[in-house]
Amino acid sequence: MSSSNVAKKQAAMEAIKYIKDCSVIGVGTGSTVNHFIKELGKIRSSFDYAVSSSEATTELLRLEGVAVTELNNCDAPDVYVDGADEATSHRQLIKGGGGALTREKIIASSSKNFICIIDESKLVKKLGSFPVAVEVIPMARSYVARKLVQLGGAPEWRQGFVTDNGNWILDVYNLDLTDSKEFEVQIDSIAGVVSNGIFSRRPADKIIVGSENKIREI
Ligand code: A5P
Repeated sequence: MSSSNVAKKQAAMEAIKYIKDCSVIGVGTGSTVNHFIKELGKIRSSFDYAVSSSEATTELLRLEGVAVTELNNCDAPDVYVDGADEATSHRQLIKGGGGALTREKIIASSSKNFICIIDESKLVKKLGSFPVAVEVIPMARSYVARKLVQLGGAPEWRQGFVTDNGNWILDVYNLDLTDSKEFEVQIDSIAGVVSNGIFSRRPADKIIVGSENKIREI
């Protein structure tokens, strides 16, 4: 296993310690969370259901024998565990590299406790080196792209990729995210935008940073 994979697994195993007295667990998407799903399978009888942020995660949860339900069928998830593409010491995040940002944001927003699991490489002083994924209704792609250029960004269409919601993704480079909350709101206010990958208004409650031989929490 590569050192980055070991670090991701360490963070995922640490997050398992927070799955106590839980009924519903929200589960994110990505290579870090995939380690968490494997561990979750081992303790599946200690909680009732998982709520999944993507079709890929649902499939993995089912393979591990974890019962999956819809968010509409349950109360607020007790805890949501997900990875990130970038994270700051204020626990603000960029997510959406895997394209699951909308469902991830819905579950993060509705959960009582949001635990983000990352390896050291994801920690940044300021968000924005990683492009901001923007999920758009397909017919709005060009219009939204022009508006994003007006905001100072350089959008690129993630060609050939369709989200689980049947939409498209624009990856936006070069945004100055000094005020990431303001950008999160501004991007969401463009007609045709479903959601964007800045998680500043609802940051993580805790970040678990894994490395090969130590764990730390932010
Ligand atoms: C999925 O859409 C993303 O938000 C992922 O959570 C994020 O890209 C982190 O993925 P990795 O754990 O694979 O780095």
